[in-house]
Amino acid sequence: MKILTASILAATILITDSSLQAQPTAPASFMLCMACHGPDGKGMGAGTPTPMAPPLAGSKLANFGDGELMSSIVFTGIEKQDAKYLGIMAPLGPAMTDAQMAEALSYVRKSFGNNAPVVTADQIKAWREKYNGKPMQKRAALEAKLK
Ligand code: HEC
Repeated sequence: MKILTASILAATILITDSSLQAQPTAPASFMLCMACHGPDGKGMGAGTPTPMAPPLAGSKLANFGDGELMSSIVFTGIEKQDAKYLGIMAPLGPAMTDAQMAEALSYVRKSFGNNAPVVTADQIKAWREKYNGKPMQKRAALEAKLK
């Protein structure tokens, strides 16, 4: 929990920096992701030795299939196993409604050069029942699902 609190604090500091501007088209629901993944989807601190989070631009996990894999990541988070990133992918299901999550995920899947199918609030509703509150997923297990 300490790591989580520290990451959210760091993200809050980054997001209050006035140089950080969302793209004009970004929906409010994406602000949460933007804190770590950056307004341009490249990851806050991209290019530094330890960025906040990986890019969502070109991310296989974000673009895969109908979006179930991506939503499962947002519901369970990813178990932190290395120090590659400053932040942690925490479970965010309780922080978002189905409509908000559908909007944020759809935005990511259609922005930053991504072009994957959008997701609906009804899909998120079903995936919430499947994944919300489940243990954090391991990165290797997620990547294995890409095949
Ligand atoms: C507090 C920081 C933080 C926030 C907020 C956050 N993420 Fe993440 N996210 C991360 C980190 C760190 C990872 C990498 C975790 C790892 O592999 O250990 C990650 C990984 C991911 C991945 C996998 C990407 C890849 O290719 O490796 C996706 C997809 C993702 N996040 C989506 C989202 C979405 C969508 C939101 C907003 C609803 C969001 N994240 C909010 C920190 C964050």
